Amino acid sequence: MTTVSEIFQTMAYGPAPESDKQAREWLAKHGGEGGLGGEFGLFVGGSWVKPASGEWFDVINPATTQRIARVPQAGKADVDAAVAAARAAFPGWSGLPGHARARYLYALAREVQRHARLLAVLESMDNGKSIRETRDLDIPLVARHFYHHAGWAQLQESEFAGATPVGVVGQIIPWNFPLLMVAWKVAPALAAGNTVVLKPAEFTPLTALAFAEIVAEAGLPPGVLNVITGDGRTGALLVDQADVDKIAFTGSTEVGRVIRKATAGSGKKLSLELGGKSPFIVFDDADLDSVVEGVVDAIWFNQGQVCCAGSRLLVHEGVAERLVAKLRARMEKLRVGPPLDKAIDMGAIVAPVQLERIRGLVSKGVEEGATMWQPSWACPTEGYFYPPTLFTDVSPAATIAQVEIFGPVLVAMSFRTPKEAVELANNTPYGLAASVWTENINLALDVAPKIKAGVVWINCTNVFDAASGFGGYRESGFGREGGREGMWEYLKLQWDEGRGTGDGSKRSVAKGASRRTRPSSPVPLPPIDRTYKMFIGGKQARPDAPYPRAIVAPDGRRLAEVGEGNRKDVRNAVEAARAAEGWAHTTGHTRGQILYYIAENLATRTDEFAARIDAMTGCGPERARAEVDAAVSRLFTYASWADKYDGQVHPTTIRGVTLAMNEPIGVVGIAAPEDLPLLGFVSLVAPAVAVGNTVVAIPSEIHPLAATELYSVLETSDVPAGVMNIVTGSKDELSKVLADHLDVDAMWYFGNQAAAAEVERASAGNMKRTWAEWHARDWLDPHQGEGREFLREATQVKNIWIPYGE
Ligand code: NAI
Repeated sequence: MTTVSEIFQTMAYGPAPESDKQAREWLAKHGGEGGLGGEFGLFVGGSWVKPASGEWFDVINPATTQRIARVPQAGKADVDAAVAAARAAFPGWSGLPGHARARYLYALAREVQRHARLLAVLESMDNGKSIRETRDLDIPLVARHFYHHAGWAQLQESEFAGATPVGVVGQIIPWNFPLLMVAWKVAPALAAGNTVVLKPAEFTPLTALAFAEIVAEAGLPPGVLNVITGDGRTGALLVDQADVDKIAFTGSTEVGRVIRKATAGSGKKLSLELGGKSPFIVFDDADLDSVVEGVVDAIWFNQGQVCCAGSRLLVHEGVAERLVAKLRARMEKLRVGPPLDKAIDMGAIVAPVQLERIRGLVSKGVEEGATMWQPSWACPTEGYFYPPTLFTDVSPAATIAQVEIFGPVLVAMSFRTPKEAVELANNTPYGLAASVWTENINLALDVAPKIKAGVVWINCTNVFDAASGFGGYRESGFGREGGREGMWEYLKLQWDEGRGTGDGSKRSVAKGASRRTRPSSPVPLPPIDRTYKMFIGGKQARPDAPYPRAIVAPDGRRLAEVGEGNRKDVRNAVEAARAAEGWAHTTGHTRGQILYYIAENLATRTDEFAARIDAMTGCGPERARAEVDAAVSRLFTYASWADKYDGQVHPTTIRGVTLAMNEPIGVVGIAAPEDLPLLGFVSLVAPAVAVGNTVVAIPSEIHPLAATELYSVLETSDVPAGVMNIVTGSKDELSKVLADHLDVDAMWYFGNQAAAAEVERASAGNMKRTWAEWHARDWLDPHQGEGREFLREATQVKNIWIPYGE
């Protein structure tokens, strides 16, 4: 018999399995034979329905390779039925007072807690992740999301006054956090008053189905939440469904790109949470033992199948060797095994295809010359397991340093200076998350804002909370989940009537698209026939093409000529805007001062600008003057905001602070509306630069002279070279060039639907954020023409997590 002292010698673990009895019973209840192989329906309109497609597919437990259920492959008729159920439920659900929706969400949180054990076990069986994680992390966070969003529903009328739900939302989620992704998607959508059609990933549909049943038990009105299963084909049908008002997607950048193109020009709102290759930066003064545990949580948590996994270890060369030795020792002690065993660290990889992907990329790493290390013990042979893996001697350009592996594979590189660390960290097309490890708070807070990522964790990693937005920069997508910023993804402003109906035809075509034919007023015209150049890098620059474009008055008189911008002019303007990035680091006060100065200089020339506008548009002297006055006032508005659009400190569940910082996006391309050529232009350019972006703006195509007249105002207002660049010419052609340009970070387009679609499609190249509108906005109305909506579009939120205490 083994003695206690012998056990102390080896400290070997005995098996400690969590019972799967309840989960098996639940599966059996759904029609399976012998307790396994349950056959589900789709959850539509509050009840289980058989799929019209008549097709099912198997759901496999990756730790045992056994089939545990069969779920429908929803086809077109099924998707249509689910969307119709959501549409039918929308008026009732969105019409409820916030308090009523808050009570439902609260009830959902309670139900999740009540069924926590069933959900945790089912999640482990379906996905292969350890029960320790599902029980202690996934499911508690699911409940937390519903509680938190019950609060937003309650506060909606006061905190989101003037905003309404978007409508019917299609949500497509991945397999790595199946139920947590349900919560991240469903909670804000329902809180805001939308109705939902949710499609879980084909590998892991079971907890979403269990959740649907729980929802029904909680008395949620039928049709408010519908769950349809299927693979990417079902996802694509949902994306294309005409009556869906918004798509929220989490998954690969590749599919995100397909969805961006598919929704382009449809008017559907879109949020994308995509892949990552997140840096985990260790400075030489970091507490290395904490770092080791941090790395375990960063890359071996959930077998590394985490979009924000700290998959690139960047370590100061002075401590690299010591850290690698410690890591290897720790890896030797990690336990890979049956997910339901409470004492294992890592479970199974979700599916053979993912296992093959990991193996393929690891082989590639070895082929490319990096050093691969794995612990001496072997993984279970039954089931899809993969050991924790560490690569050293990796070049920053190596495939494994660039491509998202989505497995338990850590890639280590070293750096010498903080500057080099930041460069290495940003050497990726992604920008989801980062961890910074140092005992020096000055260094941490200096480095955090320099990293292009939506979340930065200081001395911690992979911490999430409903109160803090999560989401990416660059090719990691756009939009945030969680917090106040996440709620905006599911709301639209009330005046924007066209949206949310699913009926694109209800949107009126931009007023500016139609030329005004009103005869010119008798106000004396300024005696000018000038040729305007471009405004690039702070100077009036000769256009590349020698043929100018004539600008004529409504009565046919020729007013002036402007440059016919082309690809080369845009390229120069983007280069100038990029070179002026230092603008982002000036203080809000400085930016505000400059905007006030522009306003002041414009105001002194009110008569001249008003005459110009009237001559161009024939709008009449009064309206022209009103437009100039409004433009001056708008500049004041954003001068005011420049030092006031502050971030937040989120009350998350850590002991510490989570700072939500509003950061500029970078270089923003802006195509201004045709209507109100001065005010429309100023209404877009001013908020963009107020928060630190630099812009390449294309003024109204028909009436560009208000913007070209601004050149001299800008020249006398201390605007640093390159902050505002103006290229005149064919708006739609130039917009397409900007949207295609890989060094433009966001593109705003205000014009016609076809060109808006083109812009959205083209933006998929580097997944730049777009804001493309073709319906009329009254720029003179401050509700429509200015305010937080513009500032939100001009910024991205970075959450910096700073735990404290010894
Ligand atoms: P995926 O992006 O193909 O799947 C995610 C979801 O999108 C699933 O529900 C899927 O059915 C759906 N989908 C697939 N094609 C679609 C389409 N054309 N239209 C609409 N929906 C579609 O991810 P997959 O294939 O499961 O994993 C591949 C790789 O993606 C992984 O190795 C990993 O690198 C990355 N990934 C990243 C995730 C993240 O959270 N950022 C999550 C899952 C995967």
